[in-house]
Amino acid sequence: MDNKRRYSTEKKQIIIGVVTAVFFLFTAVSMGETLSPGRFISPDTCGDCHSEIHSQWQNSMHNLAHYDPIYVAVSEYLLGGLTDPDEIAESESCVKCHTPVGNITGYPLKTSDDRKKVSAMAAQAIQCDYCHSATGARKMENNGLILSPGQGEDDPGIKRGPYTDSESDFHATAFSKFHTSSDICGTCHNVSHVSFGTKLETTYDEWKKGPYNSTDPSKHITCQGCHMMQRPGIPATASTQRPPNKGRAADDGPMRDHVFTHVFVGANTVVPSGFGGKDKADMALERLQNSATLGLDTEKIKDGQLGISITNSGAGHYLPTGLTDVRQMWLDIRIIDEKNTTVFSRGALDKDGYVPDDAILYHTVFGDGKGHPVLNIAKAREVLKDKRIPPGQSVRENIEFPKNKAKQLTIIVKLLYRSAPQKVLDQVLGKGKQTLPIVTMEEIQTTLTL
Ligand code: HEC
Ligand code: HEC
Ligand code: HEC
Ligand code: HEC
Ligand code: HEC
Repeated sequence: MDNKRRYSTEKKQIIIGVVTAVFFLFTAVSMGETLSPGRFISPDTCGDCHSEIHSQWQNSMHNLAHYDPIYVAVSEYLLGGLTDPDEIAESESCVKCHTPVGNITGYPLKTSDDRKKVSAMAAQAIQCDYCHSATGARKMENNGLILSPGQGEDDPGIKRGPYTDSESDFHATAFSKFHTSSDICGTCHNVSHVSFGTKLETTYDEWKKGPYNSTDPSKHITCQGCHMMQRPGIPATASTQRPPNKGRAADDGPMRDHVFTHVFVGANTVVPSGFGGKDKADMALERLQNSATLGLDTEKIKDGQLGISITNSGAGHYLPTGLTDVRQMWLDIRIIDEKNTTVFSRGALDKDGYVPDDAILYHTVFGDGKGHPVLNIAKAREVLKDKRIPPGQSVRENIEFPKNKAKQLTIIVKLLYRSAPQKVLDQVLGKGKQTLPIVTMEEIQTTLTL
């Protein structure tokens, strides 16, 4: 080989080397970090010493986020039939939050089979070592958690939490301000469309703008301040007591004035009970029943006018929050006369179990960018409607009904909640295959003699 050839071959190899290095560097940065699965410790191991916290977390929505049958049905429904690459990107993004250990250890969600390929540990979804290895968040949406796990059980690394004086022989401990702030929750509880940026869930933003993100420490209530204070009989909302929970954080640990609970109860009464978590379903009921208050203005009832006020007295965010394109919270209004004849009714379910179109419903509606409502969040290019109740605030609804000659009127108003519309369940799972319970959050009744 002459010198010139050799030189050019070497140059080619160098160029290939550089290009390969740049390629790997680029993919590493653009695809985010992938960690080896062995770096995460199973929640069962944590449960050996933190047995009470483990049993609270078991069957919680965080533990069930991967198997949750409603989530599974919706994500599989979304994966089918999309052609637009921007919509496909959104439909494949779910694992980031619903199976976060799977996602960070390299499992994508490209087909519905991918979900079945994740390890048994990753299938335990949002778990101890995932949250307690977090050091901060790089953005406040779409799960921007920065993680620093150990190297597995032989070298468990630092478990971060609320204590400044905690000691364990098994793992190092450290106080973490991040764990005591709403930010650790908010990075997942703010969901935006990965391509269009449409705000799909805004629980953290709603809290941040609201009265509980107060600069006065005595009025400031974090997500944890409600959701990690709950236990049976203590719903821990803004309208109920939130007393400290004295106990031990570890079985062999010291008595503590307060240990945060790990039940992570919101409004879901269905999914945990399907996995043996009936206690969580009961707690969700208690939470919903301490979220809102109703008031009636019957001054102009003779003229066929009724005022109803609904106050978000218990929630730290809008009512409802989260997946509000799916959640249903509505008023069921009935007025009957002295003969028990219905004079007026609005919001009663129809024969299919659907909330009627004229009902007063608090929810959000997404659009396709051209003003048409869409059910498929992958296609959500705009928010068409947002009718909900901000934290601590009231809304008033003015109802008109036909004047009549009744001597006595009884007014019954209920505020109802259902996790998903029957129509959506029929569409995704097949007609009549699944029904969901309807929770009466609040009810008010009065009888007037005219
Ligand atoms: C940034 C984090 C994040 C991503 C990404 C995400 N979700 Fe969620 N998801 C949540 C949170 C938080 C909740 C709980 C909100 C609530 O309860 O209202 C939730 C709840 C749900 C529920 C309600 C389950 C039930 O039992 O009622 C469904 C269905 C769901 N998500 C589907 C999806 C699908 C499909 C995708 C992907 C297209 C996805 N999610 C992507 C955070 C996320
Ligand atoms: C969604 C994230 C998340 C998950 C999952 C989670 N924790 Fe926590 N944990 C927290 C936060 C946040 C705090 C501190 C709350 C605060 O200070 O406001 C905490 C507190 C703790 C503490 C300190 C004592 C206490 O409760 O106040 C221990 C110990 C603990 N967690 C262990 C565990 C174990 C064991 C598991 C699994 C069975 C687990 N955690 C799952 C977020 C989580
Ligand atoms: C061999 C027993 C043991 C095991 C296993 C164990 N811990 Fe601990 N952990 C403790 C003890 C003891 C404490 C101290 C409790 C206290 O200070 O009240 C503790 C404290 C903690 C704290 C509080 C840290 C702080 O500074 O606020 C967190 C968080 C925690 N553990 C998480 C975990 C997680 C996550 C796992 C599983 C990966 C785990 N622990 C496994 C014994 C254990
Ligand atoms: C890694 C992302 C992630 C983090 C961090 C996280 N969550 Fe969640 N959370 C979810 C997902 C996903 C769901 C929904 C699971 C499902 O529906 O299957 C959920 C569900 C919940 C629910 C139950 C909602 C319902 O409909 O009943 C509550 C309450 C909740 N989270 C509170 C918190 C709090 C408080 C924190 C902070 C301490 C937090 N979450 C941190 C992702 C996260
Ligand atoms: C002042 C108490 C309080 C605070 C603070 C609070 N919540 Fe809630 N949360 C509630 C109540 C009450 C409900 C039940 C009513 C409802 O669904 O909104 C609820 C429900 C939820 C739900 C279930 C919504 C649904 O219908 O599916 C999620 C998810 C949730 N909260 C997450 C959070 C997160 C994340 C934060 C912090 C950013 C937070 N919460 C702060 C009281 C609170």
